[in-house]
Amino acid sequence: MNTIVVYNSKTGFTRQYGEWIAEELGCKAIPEKEAKKDLSAYECIIYGGWLMAGKITGLDAMKANPDMSHKKLIVYATGATDHRATEVIEKVKVDNLTPEEQEKIPFFYMESGINFKKMGFFSKSMLKMMGKSLNKKQDKTPMEEAMAKMFEKSSDHTSKDYIQPLVDYVKDL
Ligand SMILES: Cc1cc2nc3c(=O)[nH]c(=O)nc-3n(C[C@H](O)[C@H](O)[C@H](O)COP(=O)(O)O)c2cc1C
Repeated sequence: MNTIVVYNSKTGFTRQYGEWIAEELGCKAIPEKEAKKDLSAYECIIYGGWLMAGKITGLDAMKANPDMSHKKLIVYATGATDHRATEVIEKVKVDNLTPEEQEKIPFFYMESGINFKKMGFFSKSMLKMMGKSLNKKQDKTPMEEAMAKMFEKSSDHTSKDYIQPLVDYVKDL
């Protein structure tokens, strides 16, 4: 199947995962902006977006692309959430894909981290606000506790291991 990786990345984590996936599958990885031009040559689109307050950035636009109706779409999301937080990751899936889409669109999560150095002013401010409101919250769940800490400083938890389930899935198509 003629495949391409399309990613939306601000600080580089989603790009890195996209490039690793493309390398493994022997296909191209391109930023979303370039994909606006033409995807007609591809039957399978692997779309990667980063999590912003639980939302997979750029996914709605990708799903709305009229080109997509005849193609196989596979989605991966990157985020600071621990890859073992299965309930949080399940919620991301449910919040970003309708029940019908969940049947058709395979979803994969890849833990990344936070890169304050490469972040713009808007992202930095929003992250600080999210951190503050989590810190104020009474009776935080262990996951919220970890999130509040995560949003305080830069971290990098990327691992090539996280691409494997997606790569295996595509190789089996
Ligand atoms: C404003 C903002 C909100 C974020 N919200 C979440 C979130 O809800 N869940 C999560 O796991 N990570 C969250 N993150 C972390 C990013 O998803 C993570 O750093 C991502 O891998 C960045 O991708 P990029 O390097 O490709 O831009 C947030 C980051 C920013 C800047």
